[in-house]
Amino acid sequence: MADDSPESAPPGIDPSTPTFARVYDYFLGGKDNFAADREVADMVMQLVPEAPVVAQGNRVAIGRAVTYMARDLGIDQFLDIGSGLPTSSNVHQFAREGNPAAKVVYVDNDPIVLVHGRALLTEDGVATFIQGDLYEPAKIFSDPALTGMLDLSRPVGVVLAAIIHHVPDERDPAGVVRGLLEFLPAGSHVILTHLHDAGNDPRVEEAKRILQSGLGGSYFRHSAEIERFMDGLTILEPGVANVTEWRPDGPAGPLEHPLHTQMVAVFGRKD
Ligand SMILES: C[S@@+](CC[C@H](N)C(=O)[O-])C[C@H]1O[C@@H](n2cnc3c(N)ncnc32)[C@H](O)[C@@H]1O
Repeated sequence: MADDSPESAPPGIDPSTPTFARVYDYFLGGKDNFAADREVADMVMQLVPEAPVVAQGNRVAIGRAVTYMARDLGIDQFLDIGSGLPTSSNVHQFAREGNPAAKVVYVDNDPIVLVHGRALLTEDGVATFIQGDLYEPAKIFSDPALTGMLDLSRPVGVVLAAIIHHVPDERDPAGVVRGLLEFLPAGSHVILTHLHDAGNDPRVEEAKRILQSGLGGSYFRHSAEIERFMDGLTILEPGVANVTEWRPDGPAGPLEHPLHTQMVAVFGRKD
């Protein structure tokens, strides 16, 4: 368990207000979270005990997509926006499994992610970390840490995992994705994962309420809406699919569970 005394929080970090990154870290069994984060996560888990399995399933899909891009498509540079706190397998590890020369730029707007990310995810010439906001793509793409690592005239593998479901309809999630694509050359690929409302799980409404009141801004959406966020990309097989069913012959083991419908993945190419 993390030490929750206020002194244990890194400077500039408010341990009393839960954040997406820290609640998600707790679901994944991480230690970079505080009592306020665990309170929200525990409420969700009382209702949806398999929430941690859904988060793990999300990591499995990310791993499959990144390894596929690196190994089978020859992509050797990646951008992970809303990377979250370092976990047991991170995007640069998946990427380098597929291509030992792969490089990764991590972006997140939560300051605690910056602190732990810089300490753990930054490897000289392999991975770097920048604090950036999804809503400010021009700033992300002109950051010297990014331009020093990625060659934007060559295809980039983009990871938008469990982040677009934090974008409310009023902020135009499809437009946010489109805004990022403008900076990427043809041949770039995007893996997007998203909380899913399959319309058949009565607990989703309550889970939405808990997340909204504890954290704000977490939206479960239907498959058709999620597919629209990929407008401008050619959607590749198998379309919008449960995270554990997304190309299941890739790396990582099965995490079969009926409620994996709560998180889906979709993969596309910019032509
Ligand atoms: C649920 S976590 C997902 C972590 C990781 N991508 C994964 O799927 O395993 C969502 C992450 O998105 C980050 N995030 C949310 N809104 C963001 C924004 N506007 N700009 C950058 N990062 C953001 C949060 O800080 C958090 O770390």
